[in-house]
Amino acid sequence: MTTQESSSETPVTVAPDPAFAAQAVAGPDLYERAAADRLGFWAEQAREHVTWAKDFEEVLDWSGAPFAKWFVGGELNVAVNCVDRHVEAGHGERVALHFEGEPGDTATVTYAQLHEQVQRAANALAALGVGAGDRVAVYLPMLVESVVAMLACARLGAAHSVVFGGFSADALHSRIVDAEAKVVITCDGSYRRGKPTTLKPAVDAALAKGAPSVTNVLVVRRNGEAVDWTEGRDVWWHEALEAASPVHEAQAFDAEQPLFILYTSGTTGKPKGILHTSGGYLVQTAYTTRNVFDVRPERDVYWCTADVGWVTGHSYVVYGPLANGLTQVVYEGTPDTPDKDRWWSLVEKYGVTVLYTAPTAIRTCMKWGEEFPARHDLSSLRVLGSVGENINPEAWNWYRRVIGAGRTPIVDTWWQTETGAQMIAPLPGVTALKAGSAQVPLPGIAAEVVDDAGEPLGHGQAGYLVLTEPWPAMLRGIWGDEQRFKDTYWARFPGRYFAGDGAKRDEDGDIWLLGRVDDVMNVSGHRLSTAEIESALVSHPDVAEAAVVGATDETTGQAVVAFVILRGGHEQGPDTVAQLRDHVGKEIGPIAKPRSIMVVAELPKTRSGKIMRRLLRDVAEHRPTGDVTTLTDSTVMDAITQGMSATSGD
Ligand code: PRX
Repeated sequence: MTTQESSSETPVTVAPDPAFAAQAVAGPDLYERAAADRLGFWAEQAREHVTWAKDFEEVLDWSGAPFAKWFVGGELNVAVNCVDRHVEAGHGERVALHFEGEPGDTATVTYAQLHEQVQRAANALAALGVGAGDRVAVYLPMLVESVVAMLACARLGAAHSVVFGGFSADALHSRIVDAEAKVVITCDGSYRRGKPTTLKPAVDAALAKGAPSVTNVLVVRRNGEAVDWTEGRDVWWHEALEAASPVHEAQAFDAEQPLFILYTSGTTGKPKGILHTSGGYLVQTAYTTRNVFDVRPERDVYWCTADVGWVTGHSYVVYGPLANGLTQVVYEGTPDTPDKDRWWSLVEKYGVTVLYTAPTAIRTCMKWGEEFPARHDLSSLRVLGSVGENINPEAWNWYRRVIGAGRTPIVDTWWQTETGAQMIAPLPGVTALKAGSAQVPLPGIAAEVVDDAGEPLGHGQAGYLVLTEPWPAMLRGIWGDEQRFKDTYWARFPGRYFAGDGAKRDEDGDIWLLGRVDDVMNVSGHRLSTAEIESALVSHPDVAEAAVVGATDETTGQAVVAFVILRGGHEQGPDTVAQLRDHVGKEIGPIAKPRSIMVVAELPKTRSGKIMRRLLRDVAEHRPTGDVTTLTDSTVMDAITQGMSATSGD
């Protein structure tokens, strides 16, 4: 491998290893073909990666922009593409999922077994009245059943709305109500850090708040924890599947049939239900999985550590890998149970060849030390992936040296819940890699860095990332809110998609992501909105006003820091901060709990009443505060800064 050493300003590039390049799935011709005829290129990918029950007549209909229709007239069944066709091609005995529970229990599920389970689950859901166009909420941890549940919905043409198991009953409730889900699929509980957890009580609490659309709750038995039971509503998953026929005839649906809704944080308090449809989404997730991870089903063992509750789990645990007929690892628990080498023991045990994870996990492993990966033989690894936030060059280098033995390509993949699939990433074996940069739009994708006025910027200048052409896996809207879809993504730079990220190109034209330019935080690769946490805080009876900022954090990328003003008559007590943190946990979920909360007398505001988060971020990151001349009362910041140093150690 040739490494071009350079000064600290010029990043080091790593040219593709000739041996790797010689056998790589992707070749430079992909870029050429896509550049010559973008829509023709997508048509080719659509026919290569997806089996259509009825071929499409038109690649893209953009006449209703920004509402796109891809592969117009085409019909497919997504679940058939992910399961049945591999069985029909004679690969029924290939392992689809190596499941590893946190306590160490395992299950090996072949494609033939997955086929039977998905058919049974589809029949069981149909028996509960679920049909094409309905919505099903899925509130499950990482289990085989989570994958089966999602595929069973897809098979029926029903949209799933997976809610991350770490979200609270309140957050689950608002998502169930917004999507008007007919059925909720959950489990008794799971395991986390060696202890049993519970999930069903959150579903019970969510439904107790009122969710008239829900007729049934399907309950997977995972850890045997006792559950309350509502007769007539609750049904055991295993009983329903046993009673169901193992054969389900799948129907083909239009390419634009809704496949799922996934809620994500935006700049306002209410999470957005991002809508994805079938054909285009499956084409792009399958195409990217194959080319970006350089996978061949007969050779690779793939492992994406993301939870199915996030978009990465949708696109790169369920749809992309299964459409490719891959063998993959699904792990239920945390990386440090029973010890900090758990992930590496799994890589060794299953001979994982492709690992896809988030920078925050890599930085945590760096902190734990090299001795944990060193306990295991990681020589099976061929490609390492990163997603969710910037991977700083230090973490990139550690990942490559310690996990990849200085040998494996690293693909840093930029994309979003809204984009549905990877958009900016190097192609292993083709692109010379550059630590810390997501580098180049994938073949078929068009991105630009523009200034405030929407003009493309020269190399070296920081601006906004926009996507200039529609792409197959693009969101088709925000569930129930057309206007918000237009305003959020298409109004800032008319005709182009505004990603909400800052970016710049370096002198080679490679793209570097610079973080969000809106009020969205990225904590451990999870998107959280400042507004959502602020509204959770002000919903507490003691709180009059709240301001939340994301402060840089060595491990989690950003951390939530909150400043609150208590209501008149409420004094700060010894438990105030703990109570407020718990309140946020209850309203949204433990992931949203602020790292620190500071009770203040005033918040810094401009004369027009806008909170100056920039100054609060300075305080949260222990920097001298910037320009305060536009504040109504400039002494406010002195008080906050003093208060922060007094309570430091956040
Ligand atoms: O800010 C970008 C960051 O994560 C945001 C999207 O978050 P979410 O919808 O939760 O999806 C995360 C998994 C795809 C983006 O707007 N982001 C994602 N990947 C990267 C990234 N930032 C820098 N580099 C990346 N590779």
